[in-house]
Amino acid sequence: MQQAYHVPVLLKEVIDGLKIIPSGIYVDCTFGGGGHSKKILEQLNADGKLVVFDQDEDAQKNVPDDKRIIFVPYNFRHLQRFLRFHKISKVNGILADLGVSSHQFNEAERGFSTRFNAALDMRMNQNEKITAADIVKIYSEEKLHQIFEQYGEVTNSKTLAKTIVELRKTQSLNTINEFKNAVYPIVKGNPEKYFAQVFQALRIEVNDELNVLKEMLLQTVNVLEEGGRIAVITFHSLEDRIVKNFFKNGNFEEEQSRDVFGNTTKRELKIITKKPILASEEELKRNPRSRSAKLRIAEKI
Ligand SMILES: C[S@@+](CC[C@H](N)C(=O)[O-])C[C@H]1O[C@@H](n2cnc3c(N)ncnc32)[C@H](O)[C@@H]1O
Repeated sequence: MQQAYHVPVLLKEVIDGLKIIPSGIYVDCTFGGGGHSKKILEQLNADGKLVVFDQDEDAQKNVPDDKRIIFVPYNFRHLQRFLRFHKISKVNGILADLGVSSHQFNEAERGFSTRFNAALDMRMNQNEKITAADIVKIYSEEKLHQIFEQYGEVTNSKTLAKTIVELRKTQSLNTINEFKNAVYPIVKGNPEKYFAQVFQALRIEVNDELNVLKEMLLQTVNVLEEGGRIAVITFHSLEDRIVKNFFKNGNFEEEQSRDVFGNTTKRELKIITKKPILASEEELKRNPRSRSAKLRIAEKI
């Protein structure tokens, strides 16, 4: 049996949370296999519209033949620019289901998974230049240390960075196996977990995931109609913190911004989910990938 491109997580929760207006305009920033988009389309009438982004060319083949859908094969960091290009100034709802799709993870040659041997790639957009192997090859020891520590919370990130810089003088670290075998002697704890953390750090860096998320969030408040909703699904604490702080404070800090007089600036979003929505027991059993998913929803004031 052919593997599904991707099984959407928190599907009902997202659709309920967006409170879809049948004639509204919606954006799915992360189209992937189109699971969420399909349900959004089902709620829209003939006047509704759905703009979908995916920077991975592979996702395009999942776009249904439907006049109401516009596919944008670019990074969602350009959200406002492409909406403007399509003559859309305001939308009624935005969804972002972050991270990689099961398809990307299950295709060995995309280089995302520690289960396979292939080039150490990890680019969601294969037209981008920098791969994970390039990062391992060219980044300074300090920079490597920083990304393993911050993006992967790797316990011995300093030793790992030092080891990579030493090893790369004499050996090739271009493939997943070359990389894993070379650093294996310094692995701490469970190797599977260790490499999952190391790969997460590299993936975040390759795709600049935290910055693109911030850029997109900042634009959402400009394009959302009053009462329009934004729903974001995250898969690790770094992303969740960014979304949480943005919904609460309008910035990426723990506190609300203040103007020159020290007054807090006007809130643009009302939080709908005080606590993030997690997958139900039933979904966890059916789709283990939903384990770390957290859904937060806010509404434009
Ligand atoms: C978790 S999957 C989304 C799955 C989708 N909700 C579904 O139901 O099939 C994330 C998708 O978003 C894409 N993506 C991730 N970050 C992106 C970005 N910054 N810009 C555009 N697409 C992105 C990935 O290529 C991937 O296909």
